[in-house]
Parts: sequence; C-alpha cells; structure tokens
Amino acid sequence: MTKTKYSQDKLRFSGLLLLSLMFSASSFAQQDVKGDAEKGASKVSLCAGCHAIPGYRASVPEVYTVPMIGGQSASYIVSALTAYKKGERKHPTMRGIAGSLSDQDMADIAVYYSAQNVDTKPNKLK
Ligand code: HEC
Repeated sequence: MTKTKYSQDKLRFSGLLLLSLMFSASSFAQQDVKGDAEKGASKVSLCAGCHAIPGYRASVPEVYTVPMIGGQSASYIVSALTAYKKGERKHPTMRGIAGSLSDQDMADIAVYYSAQNVDTKPNKLK
C-alpha cells in the first residue's frame, strides 16, 4: 500500500518536472534568438535576387510577383520563413530556401529587412 502510494507520487512529481522543463525550454527558444542587422546584411545576397529592395526596384520587374519584404515587421518575416520551413506555406522555392536557414539566420535577416523603408537608399544596412 505505502509502496504504491510512493510510486504514484514519484510519477506525479516527474510528470510535473517534465512539464516545467518543457515550458522553460519553449520560452527559451523564443527569447534566445536575437536578430543582428549587420549579420543579416551578409545573409541576404540570395534573397535580393528575387525580393526587390528599395533603390533597386526599378531594375527588378519581379517586384510585382515577389512580395516586398523590406519594411515588413521582423516578427512577420520570421513567422513567414518558419511557415515555409515547416511546410505550412507551400511555395517550393521559398520552402527550399527557408529550410536552409537556422533560427538565427531568420532573426538576422528579419531585423535587416524590417529596418528598410521605401526611402532607404542603397546601403549595407538596407
Ligand atoms: C527564387 C526567388 C526567391 C528567392 C531567391 C527568395 N524568395 Fe522569398 N519569396 C519568393 C516568392 C515567389 C514568394 C511568394 C511565395 C508565396 O506565394 O508563398 C516569396 C515569399 C517570401 C516571404 C513571405 C512574404 C509575405 O509577404 O508573406 C518572405 C518573408 C521571404 N520570401 C523571404 C525570403 C528570404 C529571407 C530570402 C533569402 C534567404 C528569400 N525570400 C529568397 C521568391 C524568392
């Protein structure tokens, strides 16, 4: 009798422990990754081939079919990229590209693009 009660308590305790570990792990995952625009600048050469950037827009007719991401909020860019990576968004090229990005890459790129606006002149932080 006492033995059973003991193992039930133990089970309950390890269940709680596991739950709290899971919670702390997920809150870490969200807070840990901070974007760095300077690093982002070195990771967007691939993206610029398709996504028009202010200042180059006139020479990139694809601006009409490829969404403009410069000036978009960083959290939107990260969630869009994550959705491609997970397959929730289906566009094949973007899925392939997002699949090759780490969480850190996404955060850096998102901060970089969110710092742009229509009036941004070509510069290395754009
Ligand atoms: C081969 C062309 C191409 C390249 C290269 C490319 N993209 Fe895209 N991207 C697209 C197209 C086309 C879409 C729209 C796809 C859709 O309808 O889902 C898109 C969509 C997106 C979106 C969602 C925009 C929105 O408004 O929802 C984001 C964010 C994005 N791309 C980021 C990037 C980043 C960051 C890179 C570089 C690491 C990149 N893309 C490289 C073509 C490209």
